[in-house]
Amino acid sequence: METKILDCGAESVREAAKIIAAGGLVAFPTETVYGLGADALNAEAVGKVYAAKGRPSDNPMIVHIARASDIGRLTPMLSEDIVKLIDNFWPGPLTMVVKKKPGVPDVTTGGLDTVAVRMPDNETARALIAESGCPIAAPSANISGRPSPTKYQHVIEDLSGKIDAILCGEDCRVGIESTVIDMTSEVPTILSPGILTREQISAVLGREVGIDPTLMIKEIPRAEDYGFKPKAPGMKYRHYAPKAKMIVVEGSRDKVRAEIERLRALNEQLGNKVGVILLEEQAFIEAAHDLFADLREQDENGVDLILAGALSDRDGVGFAVMNRMLKSAGYNIVRV
Ligand code: TXA
Ligand code: MG
Repeated sequence: METKILDCGAESVREAAKIIAAGGLVAFPTETVYGLGADALNAEAVGKVYAAKGRPSDNPMIVHIARASDIGRLTPMLSEDIVKLIDNFWPGPLTMVVKKKPGVPDVTTGGLDTVAVRMPDNETARALIAESGCPIAAPSANISGRPSPTKYQHVIEDLSGKIDAILCGEDCRVGIESTVIDMTSEVPTILSPGILTREQISAVLGREVGIDPTLMIKEIPRAEDYGFKPKAPGMKYRHYAPKAKMIVVEGSRDKVRAEIERLRALNEQLGNKVGVILLEEQAFIEAAHDLFADLREQDENGVDLILAGALSDRDGVGFAVMNRMLKSAGYNIVRV
């Protein structure tokens, strides 16, 4: 299949919207990461997204809308809490899991009776959705398991020849996926951490917000071992993996630096090419912005081993970055 490479001008967006409306696949920029979109209400089109990405079919997709009121097409009822979060955080990097209407196909939600909804704040994304006339189901626009794309070049690298078109926009402002929060449970619960933190959401709701317990585990979460299943099915898969082997070194900064230098020297002696990712402890937002691009860059440089310094944040943006870093490394952690 030939993939059309488009800019984000009005004409290109119209062309892309026609492709979506006709059941095709288009990758597009959002403020978090690039998404791979299909008409969320067209089961056949959504099925093609799983195939193009090589994504397990029990992993549901986020449905993107252009106007907040369009959430009514997807869910039968809005709680006061949902309305508060819409008013405060949409458009933006917040995804809410809500009860689904019967019209939303099972393939879109991985067979769940809930649907994840987000209104992105990227202009091109919203124009595409509005022009298409349908909500757009979109996971990140990468081959399943690879780091999420934060530049259009990443999308071309992964999906060229597999989808109908790519809208090439700016680099993603945030750099990690949206915060996913379950609004169907007694206590609103974060299923996947992002740039919007539990603290910020809790301040708006005026009540406690929970964290899915599987997010606190620093090993590959296995339902059988721990007696609980991640509520966001996507959290159980190997993710964001660079081609290189990766080790996360955790401890005080001085010790981490020393251990990374020791491991680097040792591995270079063995003839391995080593890359280091030492994100700033004080600048988590920048760390979020850079992580996926850094991982892809290390692969381009052909390194055999990536040594990364852990961030110490336990709850905020740094926690969201660490969640990705640990998955990238397959939970391969050295503590010093
Ligand atoms: O920022 C983002 O979230 C990007 C852009 C494109 O919007 N989207 C994205 O989608 O990264 P994806 O598919 O890579 O991650 C979606 C996450 C997965 O962990 C999935 O399991 C979870 O959301 N999810 C989707 N629908 C759900 C549902 N009904 N219940 C629980 N978790 C759900
Ligand atoms: Mg993804």
